[in-house]
Amino acid sequence: MKTARILLLSDEEYPLYSKSWTPASFQGIDLIISCGDLPTRYLEFIADRFDGYVLYVPGNHDRNYVTHPPLGCVNIDEKIFTWKGLRFLGLGGTMWYNDGPWQYSEKEMKKRIRKLWFPLLKSSGFDILVTHAPAFGHYDGKDRCHTGFQSFNELIERYRPLFFFHGHIHLNYGEFPRRYTIDETVAINGYKRCIVTVPLPDEEDTHVFDADARELIEEQSRPRPEDRI
Ligand SMILES: [Fe+2]
Repeated sequence: MKTARILLLSDEEYPLYSKSWTPASFQGIDLIISCGDLPTRYLEFIADRFDGYVLYVPGNHDRNYVTHPPLGCVNIDEKIFTWKGLRFLGLGGTMWYNDGPWQYSEKEMKKRIRKLWFPLLKSSGFDILVTHAPAFGHYDGKDRCHTGFQSFNELIERYRPLFFFHGHIHLNYGEFPRRYTIDETVAINGYKRCIVTVPLPDEEDTHVFDADARELIEEQSRPRPEDRI
């Protein structure tokens, strides 16, 4: 069985990938995904040094992406991106709260998803949902900005992806888990950073995966003393 290791980044910089970077920082990593709210220069620094794709979706604090999207990275917002047979669906942004960019009402998010009907049909669904905001009622916040989207629950219920990667909810806000499940989908909050082992299909167009190969490498997501800001 083939697997790959994905480094998830979100919401706050991690020194190992910026000021404490060494050539060993990306050892064993096959793909990098930002779930949003990370400075352009941070993602560009990473893209310059990582020998592989850096995918991202915008978060509510990524106003500068409007004029200066991170160079060398792949914006998967409102797109399906396929890598080694894994189909990623990206949906950035949060619930509308102050008219900033990348903010949507539930109705607007539903409309964005409806627009994807043809790519979703063409790709026969997707395997990993990548967003900034959480799903509604699953470790989301009570305020408008941190309320999750019901549309994400519906996508997960309909397509049953292997994973749901998101950010926006800082793990230090309270009792929020790094990993949880929504039906059979494994949800991972990418706050700061963590590494996830994902199964790859034996044949790239089969979309058949060994779901038991999903693993969160939690011990590597704990900051080492020298990584603390
Ligand atoms: Fe956010």
